[in-house]
Amino acid sequence: MTRFRSPFFIAALVAACSLLGMQSATADISYTGGFSAQGNVLTLDGADRFVAGPPMSDVVVTVKSGQSIQDAVKKAEPGTTIKVMPGTYHETVYIDKNGIRLIGVIEDGKRPTLDGEGKLNDAILYSGNNVVVENFKITRYKGNGIMSQAGNNWEIRNNVIIDTGVYGIFPQLGQNGVVEHNVISGIEDAAIYVGMSDNIHVAYNDVFDSVAGIEIENSRHAIVEANRVYNNTGGILAFITPGLPIKTTYDVIIRNNFVISNNHPNFAAPGSTVAGIPAGTGILVMAADDVVIEGNIIRDNKTAGILITDHGHAANVTIDPESDPNADRVKILDNLMSNNGYDTLDDVKKLMFLELKRGNPDIVRVGPSKDSCILNRERYVTVGLKPFSDCEFTNTKQIANYLLPPVPPRVIKGEDRGKIAYLGVCAGCHTYTGRMIGPPIQIIQALYMDNPQGLAEYIANPTKKRDDYPEMPPQNYLDEETRLAVARYVLQVKN
Ligand code: HEC
Repeated sequence: MTRFRSPFFIAALVAACSLLGMQSATADISYTGGFSAQGNVLTLDGADRFVAGPPMSDVVVTVKSGQSIQDAVKKAEPGTTIKVMPGTYHETVYIDKNGIRLIGVIEDGKRPTLDGEGKLNDAILYSGNNVVVENFKITRYKGNGIMSQAGNNWEIRNNVIIDTGVYGIFPQLGQNGVVEHNVISGIEDAAIYVGMSDNIHVAYNDVFDSVAGIEIENSRHAIVEANRVYNNTGGILAFITPGLPIKTTYDVIIRNNFVISNNHPNFAAPGSTVAGIPAGTGILVMAADDVVIEGNIIRDNKTAGILITDHGHAANVTIDPESDPNADRVKILDNLMSNNGYDTLDDVKKLMFLELKRGNPDIVRVGPSKDSCILNRERYVTVGLKPFSDCEFTNTKQIANYLLPPVPPRVIKGEDRGKIAYLGVCAGCHTYTGRMIGPPIQIIQALYMDNPQGLAEYIANPTKKRDDYPEMPPQNYLDEETRLAVARYVLQVKN
């Protein structure tokens, strides 16, 4: 497997910056994004990524090696900072309080390590708002490294996550969050999976040896920048998974990333959405709108540097009548691309032939893509880009990030409990119509039609049912009432 050392990257970055800077000096018009237009206030100071706000209290507790982090969380008042000393901890930490800052202490290069020993499902799950998780090493879990379930204002920073199963860092259903300076590898689905969220910043992460590197899925107003993404099956993906309760992905900026040699054989669970990603995909845009791709170094991805597709052309995807299947208004600004598409799909070769194109494709578009544009198209080998116009702007400088001062915490009303648990937890693995990690909700509805109690019992203590699916992890950290509420919700949900 290839590893890239920083001198290489720095040299490449310098080269790219001067090249891009030089060549686009003629016009300097910035894209203004799709967020300020909605009347919200943006923080335009790029350094201001502390979206969880200052600590809500002065209380600090320390967990030492041999003690339990979960015990400390249980005893903590909201707003507590919990410092965790180096040592190895075998546990799942579940945080259902606001303002908890879980901070690993790094001493002599040693971090606190959460080790699931291949037995535990999740390392850190939180449903609180204004949560910070920093400086941990997380390894050998089966489900998630760090998962946020419906919290707002979170910061996940400087963690090292190796071989944690399905998702490395997985914020689900939240607003205003930062994922930065993490190192993530060996993940069977997505290393970083931003699901059904808004106002997100994913930056300076090192993501490799996973199926999907960074995924922005059914989410809006997200920036993915300055990440190093290499040796995954697919590097950076912005897409809509059909059948999830939130139906859109738009306004995503993918800029200044290294997207290199993402040729890893696909090792996702067969039939899952990401199992359909062709190995060798640098950046994938599927059904997402208003995705801007700028200033990336994209090379050595064997299928294509950038692949733009609708749902109709994608493998393992069902159609959702409520989701627009097309990737519209894609904006490809200047990127540095080389040696992509050298071992591409037969279908792509056919398209190349029809367009009488030679060489290996950097950029491939299939399916409708209305009002899309590209700058300096002659620099790349492209296929399917004839309908793209020339972009009217050259950069995204005006948008430092899409983050906000802390937004109000999500307050879950009694009657919404089932729905929020469904969106925040189950929808991470189940969609309504199609196979994701678990079977479609439609199948579950047929099985448990008049039996919410039975469903609630199953999720507390799932047993292995299907040979061709992984095991479902127990959801017994949800209390009994929530389990029944989510069971009732699941049985009546319609798409
Ligand atoms: C980490 C992924 C994951 C999450 C989260 C998850 N599931 Fe599952 N679920 C699965 C998998 C995988 C299966 C298939 C298991 C099998 O067939 O052995 C499954 C199967 C099921 C089944 C089928 C049981 C049967 O009798 O065939 C039900 C019901 C179910 N899940 C409900 C839920 C609910 C409700 C939630 C949310 C509280 C949820 N799941 C969260 C992965 C997940």
